[in-house]
Amino acid sequence: MARHAALPGFRDFYPEEMALRQRIMIVWREVAIRYGFEEYDGPPLESLDLYIEKSGPEIVGQLFNFTDKGGREVALRPEMTPSLVRMLGARIKGMPRPVRWFSTPQLFRYEKQQRGRLREHFQLNMDIIDEESVLADADLLAAALDVLRSLGLTSDDVVARYSDRRLLHSALLALGVQEESLPVAYNVIDKVERDPKDVCMKRLGEIGLSYEQAEEALGLTRMTPDAIGRRFAGDESFGPILQDLERYRAALASLGFADWIQLDMKIVRGLAYYTGIVFEIFDRKGQLRAICGGGRYDRLFSSLAGIDVPALGFGFGDVVLGELLKDRGLAQNDPRGPDVFVIANEDGVDVLPVVAMLRAAGFSTVYAYRQSEKANVGKALKAAASARAKVALMVGKLSDPPGETTVAVKTLATGDQQTVTLSDFLVRRS
Ligand code: HAM
Repeated sequence: MARHAALPGFRDFYPEEMALRQRIMIVWREVAIRYGFEEYDGPPLESLDLYIEKSGPEIVGQLFNFTDKGGREVALRPEMTPSLVRMLGARIKGMPRPVRWFSTPQLFRYEKQQRGRLREHFQLNMDIIDEESVLADADLLAAALDVLRSLGLTSDDVVARYSDRRLLHSALLALGVQEESLPVAYNVIDKVERDPKDVCMKRLGEIGLSYEQAEEALGLTRMTPDAIGRRFAGDESFGPILQDLERYRAALASLGFADWIQLDMKIVRGLAYYTGIVFEIFDRKGQLRAICGGGRYDRLFSSLAGIDVPALGFGFGDVVLGELLKDRGLAQNDPRGPDVFVIANEDGVDVLPVVAMLRAAGFSTVYAYRQSEKANVGKALKAAASARAKVALMVGKLSDPPGETTVAVKTLATGDQQTVTLSDFLVRRS
């Protein structure tokens, strides 16, 4: 047993895990750029106040926080949104709008470790700031789904469930929930699939709902937008929200994601700051936690940064995604060996100039360090195989010019061997 293991909830990334992490990162970045987003980052350590101001003192229980040597109360970032708001708050004046920004931070939450839930994770964050159009909401979910599609998953594997906080807000108020009790009602609905019915009913009773009202509140979670429209037909606040939801659905269908989305009134999102359309992406089998979640948070900028701009975004974690890719056999996370292993064919040949030329031409290249391997081609070939090189390049004394030198190229997987000039081999890369 190693004397020091990683801390609970923290991961070691051995090359296999690192290869998967990098593949996810590359796809995250590639999709975000393809959707027109610019990359930013902030500090991993922030002032504790930034989180307390946003979420209240209860958040401290979920933070890695401490007093630094200068007496400052600080916390490792548990999410990116407060840093984004802080950074943009300082600079947004004069910036072209809407702002489309993405980041791939490592985040830290003091959680109890469970499947898909750790104390650190990476998250793709994509946010659009100062845009009211529901098309922005649709574009953002399309980007999250495109990440999944780009990694080889399909609408048979995952589904994005969406809802609208405003719809739930209006419906709960119309059913008699008091404004100040809405957070409790949201919380009951958020947990309706996990908690037994009597627990839900009891909690709704505690905020003053009669049995019938509580039954109806829980019934909302099974209703379609049409049914909600009919039930609250006399209430004008519902029309624009239902129209937005329809435009959202239609835009996502036009962007090619009709089969990937489903309205689900149970989607509330735990975080308090959401104000409009919200979504979460799940595996279809329902075995894992949410892969990605986000939505509109139109008031956070004004409460944290004093600027009244609408905003929307999502966080897409690497942990659940990695599990899903492994489950579906899509992880393909073999670390790759080098392209070339250079071997001296004769005693006294200095292979280093050839190594330098190969690396300059873009081949990942290694060679034998040990005298015993240098002196014996058979041993050197074994070393090349154990390094998982694609080819072994066997060179003798260099010609003048060096490009004319003939080299033997052995493909290690098949054993095929060819003789070519070094120049010919070097151009293979371009
Ligand atoms: P969140 O729902 O807290 O949202 O996290 C988003 C995603 O990050 C989750 O769906 C999950 O995949 C992953 N995640 C969260 N906590 C953990 C954990 N302890 N271990 C592993 N994965 C985790 C937010 O953080 C919002 N700030 C997202 C956002 C950005 N909303 C607007 N802009």
